[in-house]
Amino acid sequence: MSDDTKLKPVKVEIEGKQFEFPVVRGSENEKGFDISKLRDQTGYITIDNGYANTSSCQSAITFLDGEKGVLRYRGIPIEQLASQSNFLEVSYLLIYGHLPTRVELDAFTKGVTQHTLVREDLVKLYDGFPRDAHPMAVLSSIVCAMSTFYQDSLDPTNKDQVEISIHRLMAKIPTIAAYAYKTSIGQPRIYPRNDLDYCSNFLHMMFAVPTEPYHVPKEVVEALNLLLILHADHEQNCSTSTVRLIGSSAANLFASISGGICALWGPLHGGANQAVMEMLADIHRDGGDVNKYVRLAKDKTSSFKLMGFGHRVYKNFDPRAAIIKKACDKVLARMGVNNPLLEIAKRLEEAALKDQYFIDKKLYPNVDFYSGIIYSALNIPVNMFTVMFALGRLPGWIAHWKEMNEGGATKIGRPRQIYTGPQTTEYVPINQRGKLKVAA
Ligand code: ACO
Repeated sequence: MSDDTKLKPVKVEIEGKQFEFPVVRGSENEKGFDISKLRDQTGYITIDNGYANTSSCQSAITFLDGEKGVLRYRGIPIEQLASQSNFLEVSYLLIYGHLPTRVELDAFTKGVTQHTLVREDLVKLYDGFPRDAHPMAVLSSIVCAMSTFYQDSLDPTNKDQVEISIHRLMAKIPTIAAYAYKTSIGQPRIYPRNDLDYCSNFLHMMFAVPTEPYHVPKEVVEALNLLLILHADHEQNCSTSTVRLIGSSAANLFASISGGICALWGPLHGGANQAVMEMLADIHRDGGDVNKYVRLAKDKTSSFKLMGFGHRVYKNFDPRAAIIKKACDKVLARMGVNNPLLEIAKRLEEAALKDQYFIDKKLYPNVDFYSGIIYSALNIPVNMFTVMFALGRLPGWIAHWKEMNEGGATKIGRPRQIYTGPQTTEYVPINQRGKLKVAA
């Protein structure tokens, strides 16, 4: 990290002695003080449950201001990208750091399009999983298995190898995801079509069958494009930090992304979009009384949480949720879908936003609250929602992994701990263990 010499160091007094720590200032004026010498100088370490106050790196990819509800990729507001760009262009922006020229975008698109096919030997792996396996488990396994098929491009320090791996991953992840779905429903897997754009090709592999022509509806492509852009990056979230942590050991890109997919799967992270739909369906089945569920979410004797509410960083509103909510009405109207769960979602949001508990704790709908409703309108099955999130987040993960590897000064990620176990204890031979207890 580079210190900002214009800022005074932070002074900390420990056991009567003063220590100074250099301050680092970001381009949006966020400030942190560098404690990397803290233990050496003082013998102390810091404790920060869930890393809520810890900057693990300096990054130039995404800026978000949780208080103001701001999100920018490489400086460009998410609202502008959502309304004017497309997913492959946003992917380029995140991974390479600037909006591509026409020539750069064409070359990137061509490179990604050329690699959509997956090896037939790799496809055999799908038959080894139980039919009802969760597609996130399949996605993560197959992505990790790519490192067995592309042993020629695993070196994170070799630019050419990294480049080909980026193209392969971006190109194949829609194929891998669609194959997981087709396998789960017992339908033939549909080969990718390189004459289609990124989103259309994915939808084609998801919904086409060999017996009939399949036309990809334009409005579905547009909605998917929007959702993927909104999910494309979110700075140091759980899955991105996982990708960085794995990558910090110089693990290859496929292995690192595979770990990120697992982290995303959890219901407190990307798995929330599936959990939201399940919750809305439960409320619907239970008669639609949203206030009952708001009460339950506040009840500290219950473990129930309003899924799709709350965020570690956004304490005002999630700008992605605002964009999705608008898109939701439009997509559903255009597709002629009348989903009763949308109406429940709106009533639930209204009830929660008026409730003092949610106001006090600054709990607002997050990106996952409405995304599931759009995915349902696009006929994406519920257990594929988190896979859709992974498809969107892939360029963000790649961008962070690449930034870290190119940063040079990266250390292996290795937090410390405060040990709370027993002090030195003598080894007891097995025949003497529990003797007293048995005798008693
Ligand atoms: N419903 C009810 N209460 C909640 C909710 C919720 N959805 N979210 C937070 N709270 C309460 C907590 O119980 C806690 O109460 P307390 O102060 O009385 O202990 C307080 O609000 C603060 O919440 P924390 O869980 O400490 O906040 P944290 O930043 O650790 O967690 C998280 C954020 C995980 C997103 C949390 O809000 C949550 O579990 N939400 C539901 C799951 C969800 O929607 N996840 C998707 C996140 S977005 C994403 O990953 C793309």
